[in-house]
Amino acid sequence: MALRRFDLEAGGDSFAFKPETEPTIAFWLGKYPQDKKRSAVIPMLWLAQKDNEGWLSEPAMREVADRLEMPYIRVYEVATFYTMFRLQPVGKHHIQLCGTTPCMLRGANDLKEVCQKNIGKPMSVTDDGRLSWEEVECLGACANAPMVQINDYYYEDLTPESLTEILAKLQNGAEVKPGTFVDRLNSAPEGGATTLLEGDLYDGSRNAVSELPNLPKDAPAEPEPAPAPEKKTTLIKDSKPAPKAEDKPEMVEVAVGEEDDLKRIKGIGPVNEKALNELGIYKFSQIAAWTPANVDWVEDFMSFPGRIEREDWIAQAETLAGGEETDFSKRVDAGEVESSKDEGEA
Ligand code: FES
Repeated sequence: MALRRFDLEAGGDSFAFKPETEPTIAFWLGKYPQDKKRSAVIPMLWLAQKDNEGWLSEPAMREVADRLEMPYIRVYEVATFYTMFRLQPVGKHHIQLCGTTPCMLRGANDLKEVCQKNIGKPMSVTDDGRLSWEEVECLGACANAPMVQINDYYYEDLTPESLTEILAKLQNGAEVKPGTFVDRLNSAPEGGATTLLEGDLYDGSRNAVSELPNLPKDAPAEPEPAPAPEKKTTLIKDSKPAPKAEDKPEMVEVAVGEEDDLKRIKGIGPVNEKALNELGIYKFSQIAAWTPANVDWVEDFMSFPGRIEREDWIAQAETLAGGEETDFSKRVDAGEVESSKDEGEA
């Protein structure tokens, strides 16, 4: 482990928890007996870090020690051991870049270059105070490698381009929704499921046991299986009922036969394109004309809340509808984007 030192100069002489943090402190202290309240040291340090702009100053650690009636050195030991506690100032958006093997094999070193180029050395803060970064060990999201954590949220399946875009938006004060940045649902396969597609795997119809080994001859007859529920065609179930295609709100319609290649929009792979076509959406101009209500409805229908805005489908569609290209569409046209190829296309 690297040597971790306090930044005594930047930490000043004092620290106070924010008044609005006090109820959370009371919650944590209430979890332990009075004579064991030091057990709350990690959540208390975490709260202090949050109240101190993302890092722990030495006065903040002393405040935690005083509240928990612990020797200062015991709190310093905890804070310096866990890398989730930062001991020097960080930017408003602190990027923790996973450099462990799965992420490294999937391009973490390229992401590191993006951080070095756009932010500077690890733990340096940009002049505007907005960004800082460091390399950390596995953050437990290896299935979505390479990834970074920005403050409390994960940004996954990144490329140098997508990370550059995220950093630029954060630096301009914009918000960037976390999650995956490719055409997949959480950790499901890119472009949609490729195995275990049979509907009867999920409708209960395979549950009826026809024959049990070693079943005694005079065992009572198997009860009739309950009627199988209606077959589902999707693997992912949402807690609220999915909107139906026939409830589609009013949108710009076009004649079939004039399709654009919607996969030239970043975020639309073959699966999403097919789903959009089934809704009667074939052209960039239709997407460019979506109202906010249309966007909400399509996101609900396709079960990816927030994604259309995050991936900027409408701006991409406007550009492409105007006959211009985007960086992503150029890569699609050059055959460089595997997830934008139709089945059988290589
Ligand atoms: S290796 Fe990067 S999240 Fe696990």
